[in-house]
Amino acid sequence: MDDEDLEIIMEDGDDFALDEGEPVTTKSKTSCMKNLKIVLKDKVENKTKIETKKSTPRKKDTDDIISNLIKVYPNVLDDEYCDYLIDRFEKEKDLHHKISTERRSFAQLHIMDSNFGVKGADGWTEDSEKLISSFDDLFKKYVKDCKIDKFQLPEKYAWEGLRIKKYEANKIDEFQNHVDVLDHDAARRFLTFFCYLDNNSGGATDFPVYGWRGKLHKKMLFHSPSKKGSVILFPPMWPWLHRGNRPKRKPKYIVQTYLHYV
Ligand SMILES: [Fe+2]
Repeated sequence: MDDEDLEIIMEDGDDFALDEGEPVTTKSKTSCMKNLKIVLKDKVENKTKIETKKSTPRKKDTDDIISNLIKVYPNVLDDEYCDYLIDRFEKEKDLHHKISTERRSFAQLHIMDSNFGVKGADGWTEDSEKLISSFDDLFKKYVKDCKIDKFQLPEKYAWEGLRIKKYEANKIDEFQNHVDVLDHDAARRFLTFFCYLDNNSGGATDFPVYGWRGKLHKKMLFHSPSKKGSVILFPPMWPWLHRGNRPKRKPKYIVQTYLHYV
């Protein structure tokens, strides 16, 4: 108990005072102390309740923290360059890796060596440098826009090898609700980047609101459409639950990377 608690007690201390003219006996002293304890307990509990109410963020505030750290920057890559990347990707079909698991289905091409030990396809060095340079400029903008302090992020960082991904409009390809860090290896990731390489009426990235016992709601916290040249940035950790929806009528293409702790 601190002095502040005692001050509150003394404000209306009449609750435990002896009646005027009452003789001070052992019995009256015990009764007085009992009252003092009850009032003191009550005051401390009330004070705790008030403080808890003040310091606990409302649900809306918590949602805002998640969505405030998701940023979309339009027209980062121009249309011609997006078309060129898709064209080259399609010409190197033999090098595509098909990923198909319970929650995800798409084809991808590594265009840069990955720090997870995957070798990038040959001949993409110039494009990789160009893309990483654009993403690095965006990273600086994101830090500023999100009002992130210098000490919150590492001075040195690395880029995960770039990948181009293609989701066919076949009602199979999609990336269901997931997060981007699930193990120690992936925990080096601290920021997700990807650029949509074509417009698609489906294929949006959605961040669903989740509630009690992890039940997923249909309501979206953040919706990012597949817009040619737009880049989305967000933290890859577990609170940023997201999904890549099925594309409609034509394939969806993205080029993706992450920032890593080193
Ligand atoms: Fe993801």
